[in-house]
Amino acid sequence: MDSRGLIELERMPFKDRLTKQYSFYLKELENGYMMGREGFGPVGKTMKYKDLHTDEFREVLVFGSNSYLGFSDHPYVKEKVKEAVDLYGIGTGGSPAFSGYTRQHKELELRLAKLAGHEDAVLLPGGYMANLCWVNGLMNNNDIIIYDKNSHASVINAIKMTSVPFYSFDPDNLDEFEKLISKIRSRVGDEKQIFSTVEGVRSIDGKIIELARYIEICKANNIIIILDDAHGLGTVGATGKGTLEYLNLIGQVDLRMSTCSKAIGAQGAFVSGSKELIFLLRNFSYPYVFTSGLAQPTIAAISAALDLLENEPHHVQQLHANVAYMQDRLEQRGFKIIRGESGIIPVFFEQDGVVRLINKELYRRGLFANIMEYPMVPPGLERLRLSIMSIHTKEEMDKAVDMIYEASRLVCN
Ligand SMILES: Cc1ncc(COP(=O)(O)O)c(C=O)c1O
Repeated sequence: MDSRGLIELERMPFKDRLTKQYSFYLKELENGYMMGREGFGPVGKTMKYKDLHTDEFREVLVFGSNSYLGFSDHPYVKEKVKEAVDLYGIGTGGSPAFSGYTRQHKELELRLAKLAGHEDAVLLPGGYMANLCWVNGLMNNNDIIIYDKNSHASVINAIKMTSVPFYSFDPDNLDEFEKLISKIRSRVGDEKQIFSTVEGVRSIDGKIIELARYIEICKANNIIIILDDAHGLGTVGATGKGTLEYLNLIGQVDLRMSTCSKAIGAQGAFVSGSKELIFLLRNFSYPYVFTSGLAQPTIAAISAALDLLENEPHHVQQLHANVAYMQDRLEQRGFKIIRGESGIIPVFFEQDGVVRLINKELYRRGLFANIMEYPMVPPGLERLRLSIMSIHTKEEMDKAVDMIYEASRLVCN
């Protein structure tokens, strides 16, 4: 659906909206709309997925998983989870504010805080909830937030759920960001607290912005910084600690969020910061106080993944080598890509409106990848979004590039 279609849809009464949306997506299923493809078995570099026509499960090569280091099916992690189930059971039976907080939660929070260069951290059931957590726990209509225009849906949704006045900015244009701050300050004076959030490794293209300059501008203007490094943990930095390690800026932001559902291969997320800020979240943020604590096997999986990051640097090194190899191979085949620093490689096609059909053809040929279309990215910037894993072999990457080449020729000619 194009932008005009979406605006029109938003204005419709609910019943019309429901009918229109439902029939639109039924039709789109035929055109290659593949959200919610059903898989089977552990998430790895290959996986069984349901065939679009036969409904049978068929093994495909996976280049669309955020489990960048293959930890979601790693023997050490699985062993540690089994041990934890025997020792601690499964669920926590309550919110961390009441009965659902254990020594395992506390130890992991402190370990994650240390990794982030902060004093304390809170664990949440996912990155989405973690972004709701800091917005809900810190902001009200006396404050202002300036958010990265590429922010994840969770940040935008969280902001819209509060009464905090908001502005967005383009992290690729920090001169404009500075001007926006001056404009806001001249309108509201120095009293109001301004918060700003930006992505570390950018989820739409894997790039890292000029973070040092962004931090400098925020500090000069007394702005509280929240970094969403969902895709940075485990993928960038010499030991996989994320964007701040990569840029030598550990400890330079006020709050940092990273999810454990991507390179860490499990689920859950953390927000780290100073004792005072984390105290506020722990005691006043609804998404932390009113939801159950992370289940014990998840705590064990995250801890085991951190052991691997600390003790086996080759996982992160191999991911970096694989990303560079894949970027070279795609460019050699003439594809326009963005060379980012993380596991994400966006691939663009000359013709508009073809990416969904190319992806459908790839799936038919045995390659699972994701796409990004409007409204996730601006019209004309639709892309295939490949996620590289440290466990992909050169042969598998070559095969994927061949398939993308052949599928795009078939669809575009
Ligand atoms: C930038 C960003 N923030 C937050 C999230 C949400 O993380 P989770 O999947 O753990 O809820 C994502 C997930 O894709 C993301 O890309």
